[in-house]
Parts: sequence; C-alpha cells; structure tokens
Amino acid sequence: MGEFEGRVVIVTGAAHGIGRAMALGFAAEGADVALLDRDGAALAATAEAARGHGRRVLAIEADLLDRAVLVESFARIGRDFGPPHTLVNNLGQTARERFSLFSDAPAEVLEFVLDISLHAALHCARQVVGGMKDRRAGRIVSISSDSALNGDLGCVDYAAAKAGILGFTRALAREMAPYGVTVNAICPGPTNTRAMQQVPKEAFERARLAVPMQAICEPEDIAHAALFLASSRARFITGQTLVVNGGRVFH
Ligand SMILES: NC(=O)c1ccc[n+]([C@@H]2O[C@H](COP(=O)([O-])OP(=O)(O)OC[C@H]3O[C@@H](n4cnc5c(N)ncnc54)[C@H](O)[C@@H]3O)[C@@H](O)[C@H]2O)c1
Repeated sequence: MGEFEGRVVIVTGAAHGIGRAMALGFAAEGADVALLDRDGAALAATAEAARGHGRRVLAIEADLLDRAVLVESFARIGRDFGPPHTLVNNLGQTARERFSLFSDAPAEVLEFVLDISLHAALHCARQVVGGMKDRRAGRIVSISSDSALNGDLGCVDYAAAKAGILGFTRALAREMAPYGVTVNAICPGPTNTRAMQQVPKEAFERARLAVPMQAICEPEDIAHAALFLASSRARFITGQTLVVNGGRVFH
C-alpha cells in the first residue's frame, strides 16, 4: 500500500529523463499512471517498467504540441482510466541544438520553446482543473527550471517560459485553493538526462562545479520532490516553488 494507492497520476513527457523517473516513482508509491509522450517506443519501455510495480498503466503516444491530440488524449484518460488526482506538467525543453543568443534567435525557435515549455502546461491543466474543482481535490505539479531564477546565458526564451510556469502556478493556486486543489512548481538545476549527457565533457564539468554540492541533479531527486508535493503531507502547500539544485541558485 502506498500513498497514491488507487489514485490516477498523469505525467507528460514521461518516456525519458525526469518524466520517466516520476512515472516510476508514482507507480512505486501505488499510483495508476497515465503517461503521455510522442516517443512511442521509449514510452512503451517506461510503461512496462511502471507495470512492474503492479499498477495500472495507460501509455498514450501523443504529440502534445498538437492541440487536438492533447485534448483527445486527456479525454481518453478520463474515459479509460478515471479522474486524475495529480497532473505533472513535465514536458519542456530549451532550444537545444538551435540554442543561440536572443539577438540571433529565429522567431520560430522562440515560439517553439514557449509552446513546449509553457503553453502546453497551461493547455494540459485546462483539461483537468474543472474536474478537480468539482471533486474538491487534486494536485498540479509543474516542472519549471532554475534557469527561470538564474537567467542562464542563451536561455532567454526558456527562462521566459519557465518563469511563466511560476506565474501560472501562483495565479492558478489562488484560484484553486478554495477547492482544496494545490498547484506548485519545481525548479530543477542541471539534471542528468539526455540533454545534459550530450553536452561536451568540459561543459558538463563546468556545470557540475557550479553546483555547491559539486554534483549534477539526478532525475530521481526531482521525482522525490514531485511525490512530496502531490502527497497528503503537502496539503497546505500551494503556489510555491521548490528549487532542487544542490544550491546552484537560492530562492
Ligand atoms: N535536464 C535538465 O537539466 C533540466 C533542468 C531544469 C529543468 N528541466 C525540465 O525538466 C523537464 C524534463 O526534462 P528532461 O531533461 O527529463 O527532458 P527529456 O528530453 O529527457 O524528456 C522529455 C520528454 O518529453 C518528450 N517530448 C518531447 N516533445 C514532446 C511533444 N511534443 N509531445 C509529447 N512528448 C514530447 C520526449 O520524447 C521525452 O520523453 C522539462 O520541462 C525541462 O525543461 C530539465
């Protein structure tokens, strides 16, 4: 028996990295997990691992930048799986290989980063807030970034999107508080996922040494924070930003 026994938890971008760690973490604590990702093969592997915890798993291959697909995916979760207790808005990324200074950034790259790192979270939340309000229960946990606080060089679009997640979190928390629904954000520092694993060795070392704890965050560190914020122990915490970054930026 775990904290989330019988509860439906939705994780976006669940196939890899932090999303995968959260999917497995919630399943290990008894949740039935609905997992959304556009990478069907990797999603199937994550779903298989989650089923290893003996929970119900619904894996939906979906491009969440396609609004109609997003809406239909959430409707399917409601139909096939039941009402969600928790939504984890994990989807997001920097411009990665198209990373540049703002003065050189093409408009379509700025729009892509805002769409994937901010707009998708709002549209996912829109699919669940009405039901949470009616049931007078629910949790929304969104993954921001400590780049929103630090303003990392070359990350104007990403910092803007991830700071947007913090504003979204605070305003929605105020709206949902009378219904017992909490809304919180997590700001990870550099975390050991695919994007970090692809940076040159020297850049990885620079990032590691910039962290007072002299280590890169592991996806499980973020999963632990998400599990706490979604748990009954966090019932009186809402509108907050939990920074998980080994002390790289204080908030
Ligand atoms: N890794 C870091 O250093 C770090 C630091 C701070 C914040 N974050 C944030 O944490 C979250 C997860 O990051 P990660 O490093 O685990 O990323 P990741 O790239 O390892 O995983 C992201 C997942 O999203 C999926 N995805 C991408 N585009 C999609 C789309 N259009 N529709 C559906 N699924 C899609 C990918 O297939 C992948 O499984 C993001 O919001 C990211 O901004 C990451």
